[in-house]
Parts: sequence; C-alpha cells; structure tokens
Amino acid sequence: MDGLYVRSVSLREPVPGGDWLSALPVVRYLAAHTLDFHRQVTFLVGENGVGKSTLIEALAVALGFNPEGGTKNFNFSTEDSHSGLYRHMRVSRGPTQPRDGFFLRAESFYNVASNIDQLDREPGFGPPIVDSYGGVSLHRQSHGESFLALAEHRFGGRGLYILDEPEAALSPMRLMRLMARMKALSEDRSQFIVSTHSPVLMAFPGAEVYEITSEGIQSVPYRETEHWQLTRRILENPEKMMGYLFGKDAD
Ligand SMILES: Nc1ncnc2c1ncn2[C@@H]1O[C@H](COP(=O)(O)OP(=O)(O)OP(=O)(O)O)[C@@H](O)[C@H]1O
Ligand SMILES: [Mg+2]
Repeated sequence: MDGLYVRSVSLREPVPGGDWLSALPVVRYLAAHTLDFHRQVTFLVGENGVGKSTLIEALAVALGFNPEGGTKNFNFSTEDSHSGLYRHMRVSRGPTQPRDGFFLRAESFYNVASNIDQLDREPGFGPPIVDSYGGVSLHRQSHGESFLALAEHRFGGRGLYILDEPEAALSPMRLMRLMARMKALSEDRSQFIVSTHSPVLMAFPGAEVYEITSEGIQSVPYRETEHWQLTRRILENPEKMMGYLFGKDAD
C-alpha cells in the first residue's frame, strides 16, 4: 500500500556482548521475531524502561535520521547518546520513498529548536527555516506550542514521522489538535510510528497498538492495554483509587 514506508523491522543477528542493550528483552525478542507495520499509525506502548525509545531511536537512525531528532537534513549532535542497535537492524521498506520526514525525541527537542535558530543566523539562500515552523522561533514558544507548531506547519504530508512521546508537552485539547493533524497527514499518505503513554492518543482510529513487555511485543486492542485500563479506573473512581494508594483516610 502506498504510504507505508516502513514495512517491518527485525535484527540481522542477536546483539553481541553482555551489556544493557543485548540484555533488553525487546532487543532479544527482535532477534527472533519481526515487527510488522500494517497501518498508517503504529503505537508502541509499555512500562517505563521496556525499550520503546531505544527501539524507536535505532529505527530512526537506521533510516538516516539524526539521532537527536529533526529532519534528515539535521546533522547536529550534542551528545553521543544513542545506542548501537541500529547497526544490527534489518528494516524492510515499502516501494515508495517518503517525501517528508521528522524524528521527534522529546528529550532533545530543545536542541532541534537551537539548530533551526543557528542555521537561520548563518548566511544562506532561500527563506529562513523558521518560516516552515510557523515563523516564530521554537524557543520563543512554550514546549507545547512549539511542538504543535512543528506538527501543524512543518509536517507536510507523504511523510514518515517517528515520534517519541509526542504527548509529553500537550494539554488534552492540544493533544486532540495533534490527532486531527495526524489524521489529515495519514490520509495524505503519511506513516507514523509513535511511542506513547497516552491512552487518549492510542485511541486514534485505525491505529495498531503494540504493547512491549518483558515477554516481547504483542498487538493488542487499545482498550486492553494496561495504560488504558488503569487510567479508566482512576478517572471512573478517583477516590477509590486514591484510597488504594494512600489508605482509607485519603481525601
Ligand atoms: N545509554 C544507556 N546505558 C545503559 N542503560 C541504558 C542506556 N539507555 C537506555 N538504557 C536502559 O535501557 C532500558 C530501556 O530504556 P528506554 O529509554 O528505551 O525505555 P522506554 O521504554 O523508552 O522508557 P520510558 O517509558 O521511560 O521512556 C532502561 O532500563 C534504561 O535504563
Ligand atoms: Mg522512552
């Protein structure tokens, strides 16, 4: 299907060495299994530390993105913080090339913003890069505003967007705006691969949700994820859940 740029990811061989990376359950799982992408939008969910960022970052680097985030034209690097997992990856691509792309790492979005400002200060041809990000330096907008400006102004369609916890900065209302933007882009032949903890985001219609656990990776209906079920129990009866958490006297 046109618009599915990444079809699957697996490892060519088990990651050698006795370090944290080779011991990560998701890495061991991928040495023996292939993770297939069937939909325009795929979510990777799971507990803190199961390896979502490690996996998504290795995938982005294997596809030619800057490890700290940005488009394929960004090649700054402030810290060598990415793992060597990408070297062992086998990524199967679709028949067409994406026209656009962006890798968002919540932790280093600040550096992406700095890089845009710096490139615009240097002499060059063409309009300032900041124009395609809404015209205002991402540093002069709040975290949430700048991220939404990126999605609404810079993401242009027919693209491959790899996002690590995009909800981190967004209010529920802005998160719904992001979802509306994702819907329009996915209908314009874009593919999203997104790690998230947000039960709101994972309700995106037609998305595939992969839950990563110490056992491996499983495709699950979003209502069956631990995130969804726990959040629902809290919202349905906060007093009862606070009672469990803090004891019966919790107010
Ligand atoms: N550079 C590193 N050196 C040692 N251990 C690391 C390194 N990077 C990640 N890890 C470990 O690998 C595991 C997976 O980390 P990762 O950031 O991929 O988790 P995650 O699923 O994205 O978690 P979160 O939901 O908190 O973002 C963690 O236990 C982490 O401590
Ligand atoms: Mg993470």
